[in-house]
Amino acid sequence: MDNPNGGIGGKTVLITGGTSGIGKAAAVALAAMGAKVVVVGRNPERGEAALEEIREQGHSDSVELILADLCVQSEVRRLAETFLARHDRLDVLANNAGLVQSRRTETPDGIETTLAINHLAPFLLTNFLLDRLKESAPSRVITVSSEAQRWGSMDFGDLQSRRKYRGFPVYGMTKLANIMFTYELAERLKGTDVTANCLHPGGVGTNFGKNNGGPMALFFRAAKPFMRTPEQGADTLIWLASSPEVEGVSGKYFSDREEIEAQEIANDPEARRTLWEMSEELTGLKVTA
Ligand SMILES: NC(=O)c1ccc[n+]([C@@H]2O[C@H](COP(=O)([O-])OP(=O)(O)OC[C@H]3O[C@@H](n4cnc5c(N)ncnc54)[C@H](OP(=O)(O)O)[C@@H]3O)[C@@H](O)[C@H]2O)c1
Repeated sequence: MDNPNGGIGGKTVLITGGTSGIGKAAAVALAAMGAKVVVVGRNPERGEAALEEIREQGHSDSVELILADLCVQSEVRRLAETFLARHDRLDVLANNAGLVQSRRTETPDGIETTLAINHLAPFLLTNFLLDRLKESAPSRVITVSSEAQRWGSMDFGDLQSRRKYRGFPVYGMTKLANIMFTYELAERLKGTDVTANCLHPGGVGTNFGKNNGGPMALFFRAAKPFMRTPEQGADTLIWLASSPEVEGVSGKYFSDREEIEAQEIANDPEARRTLWEMSEELTGLKVTA
């Protein structure tokens, strides 16, 4: 990636959650820098509307939409297959889609929804696309985590929060999982020229939390004036996707373009391996990365 315009001109970028908030702001910026941007959305109307906005604000026609509901594992597989059929390169994969849920629900696959969308979908999508990332190297996997990781604890005996469910701690656990996944992936990708990093975007005024209605939606609405704009929140993601400064940097967690520390358990190789193996079981995936 040696293009002076941030290194991303002509590169192919896949961004989940590109229909709103941080993902949409990153899509606009990367399209404006000359990247071919493929955004993933789950709703056709919202997806088409976002596509138009990204094309217009990014002054680019190289923007495409693939529809997939990331809580359904077969749709994650179909998303990967559609992408692979249409694109012979993948330079940057941005796992950005995510949510918090005040009440416990399960996906059609019988998995707790926050875990399915925030952790298992990135895990599956990345593994499905790993060969294309390796063929396109140097390439980058970026996962949007959160400092909410500090509220989460990794309970391998109850990963699906069946015994006890509270929205924010469960969200925090999935964001901790994003970091553990990133560290483990970086380890497995050593020597391939595919890097894996994750980030905290700050507190960002987006649609985040609004799916819940009630007190949680009210909380996010009240906090919005004090939060970053989506464009500000997307800065570290855009930097990780495009900057020559992070060429070859892998296995790190960033905030405001600076490396930060995750919870101690993220540095435990055995815990990371356990999460990887449990994720393989929950998705039916066996990989030899
Ligand atoms: N906002 C913050 O303060 C903050 C702080 C730390 C970390 N983060 C992280 O930043 C990331 C982006 O969040 P945001 O703040 O930009 O929130 P957002 O505005 O709500 O955007 C979330 C995106 O994820 C998509 N999404 C959710 N569930 C999906 C599903 N089942 N299938 C496909 N796409 C799905 C949404 O699609 P729809 O448009 O169809 O809903 C939307 O495009 C998340 O991973 C979040 O955890 C946010």
